[in-house]
Amino acid sequence: MKYYILFGPPGAGKGTQATAMVEKYNLHHISTGELLRKEIAAGSELGLKAKSLIDAGALVPDEVVEGMIESEFKSIKDVDGFLLDGFPRTTLQAEALDRILAKSSESVTAVVSIMIPDEMIKERIRHRASIEGRADDAKEETIDNRIRTYHDKTEPLVAYYTEKGKYHEIDGTGTIEQVRQSIFDTMDKF
Ligand code: AP5
Ligand code: MG
Repeated sequence: MKYYILFGPPGAGKGTQATAMVEKYNLHHISTGELLRKEIAAGSELGLKAKSLIDAGALVPDEVVEGMIESEFKSIKDVDGFLLDGFPRTTLQAEALDRILAKSSESVTAVVSIMIPDEMIKERIRHRASIEGRADDAKEETIDNRIRTYHDKTEPLVAYYTEKGKYHEIDGTGTIEQVRQSIFDTMDKF
C-alpha cells in the first residue's frame, strides 16, 4: 500500500488536485475536512463539537481526526493506496500516523506539498466562497485564523518530513493543469 500525504495551506488546491491523483494512481481520497463537514451536515454529536472550532478557523482535537483516519484505513481495501488530504496537520498527528502505519509494517510513502503564498490563499478562498458557500470561507477573520493556524501548527511538518527525506514541494501558483502535471511528475517516481 502507498500512503501519500497531500500537504499545503488552506486554498492551495489540495481538493482540486486530489480527484485526478486518486484516479491516476488508484488511491482512496481521505479529506479530514470533508469528513468533518459531513458530520456537521448530519448533525452528529461530533459534528456539533467540530462546527464551532472549524468556524473559528481552529483545529479539531488530534484524537478526533486520528480516529477517522484509522477507521478509513480499516474499511477501504480495494485500492493501491491512500491520499491523505488535510491530515496530518500537527506534529502529534504525524507521530500518530507513523504509529498507526507501523502496526501493519507500513510507512508514509511521500508528502506532496502544494505551496502558494498567503495572499494567493486569500484570493482563492474568496473565489471559492462565491461558488461553494463553505461556512469557514465566509469571514475574513476565519480565513486569517486558518492561515495563522497553518503557520503555527502545520508548517512544522515541512521540517518533520524533510528530515525523513519524504517531502516534495510543488509550486502551486500555476494553472490547475500546470500544478497537476508537476504533481504527476513527482508521483511517477514512487
Ligand atoms: P480542510 O477542509 O482541510 O480545509 P483547508 O486545509 O483549509 O483546505 P481547503 O479545503 O480550504 O483548501 P484546498 O487546498 O483543498 O483548496 P481547493 O482545492 O478547494 O479543513 C477545514 C477545517 O477542518 C480546518 O480548518 C480544521 O478546523 C478542520 N480539520 C480538517 N482536518 C483537520 C486535521 N487533520 N486536524 C484538525 N482539524 C482538522 O482550492 C481552493 C480554490 O482555489 C477553489 O475554488 C479552486 O477551484 C481554486 N484553485 C485550486 N487550484 C487552483 C489553481 N492552480 N489556479 C487557480 N485556482 C485554483
Ligand atoms: Mg480541501
